Amino acid sequence: MTKLAYSTVVIKTPLKILPNPFRALVIGSSGTIGSAFVELLKNNPSCSGVVGIHRHSEHPLDYQNPASIEASANALAAAGPFQLIINTIGVLHSKDWMPEKKIDDLNAEQFIELFKINTIGPALSIRYFSKLLDPKNSILITLSAKVGSIEDNRLGGWYSYRASKAALNMLIKTASIELARTKPNAALIAMHPGTVNSSLSKPFRGEQIGRPAADAVSDMFTVMQNLKKEDSGSFISYSGEKLPW
Ligand SMILES: NC(=O)c1ccc[n+]([C@@H]2O[C@H](COP(=O)([O-])OP(=O)(O)OC[C@H]3O[C@@H](n4cnc5c(N)ncnc54)[C@H](OP(=O)(O)O)[C@@H]3O)[C@@H](O)[C@H]2O)c1
Repeated sequence: MTKLAYSTVVIKTPLKILPNPFRALVIGSSGTIGSAFVELLKNNPSCSGVVGIHRHSEHPLDYQNPASIEASANALAAAGPFQLIINTIGVLHSKDWMPEKKIDDLNAEQFIELFKINTIGPALSIRYFSKLLDPKNSILITLSAKVGSIEDNRLGGWYSYRASKAALNMLIKTASIELARTKPNAALIAMHPGTVNSSLSKPFRGEQIGRPAADAVSDMFTVMQNLKKEDSGSFISYSGEKLPW
């Protein structure tokens, strides 16, 4: 008589990272998208507490002053750990300049300011605020922009903004590789919010073509709730679509 060999097949479904309940920190909570995140999280029953920080809040941070990033994170250490940190700080234009349309518009001051705010500040925020992440399960989202995708660049222009977000994406990816070793249950994500009606998009017909911030943050939060460990180091759109670097 032939003996039948039985083996047990275990199908593992990857686990979602964001626990219930969770505590959240929104960096840049004075902005259009940042304040909409605070509002959404305050009203979400799974969120047991949300802290918002910005240039003029308690424990302020100003990306023009890198030392303020470490000071802010240190001051908030006792309020942690956080299971969700969302960094929404970013600039596209200022009172002194608009995004460059052509090579002849490139200038050092604009590059330096954009890189300070869109790249170096968020990277140092990963350095200091990742220490406040819950090692058991947590997510640190940094808002990037699809125009920072090198592969997706079809229109050109916006040199310093595109480059600052492309460099930010590289830093998030690189940090995610290190974090996979040191904090394997934490995920680092670059997220594109879509076009949102805000002060940042206003000069570019943001009011006409942008969505209300409440809709954008609701979509992004749905994506965040479904993130898995394996998603760390990805560039993800508000719709959940993985974007090319
Ligand atoms: N809106 C869009 O269509 C769109 C599209 C793609 C990507 N994004 C990205 O989404 C993020 C949020 O954009 P938003 O539309 O909400 O813009 P926003 O309303 O202009 O908010 C920008 C935020 O950045 C902060 N900020 C600017 N300079 C700073 C500095 N030196 N130090 C610290 N904080 C500083 C602002 O603080 P203050 O209030 O103190 O000025 C504000 O909290 C940005 O990273 C942006 O690149 C937006």
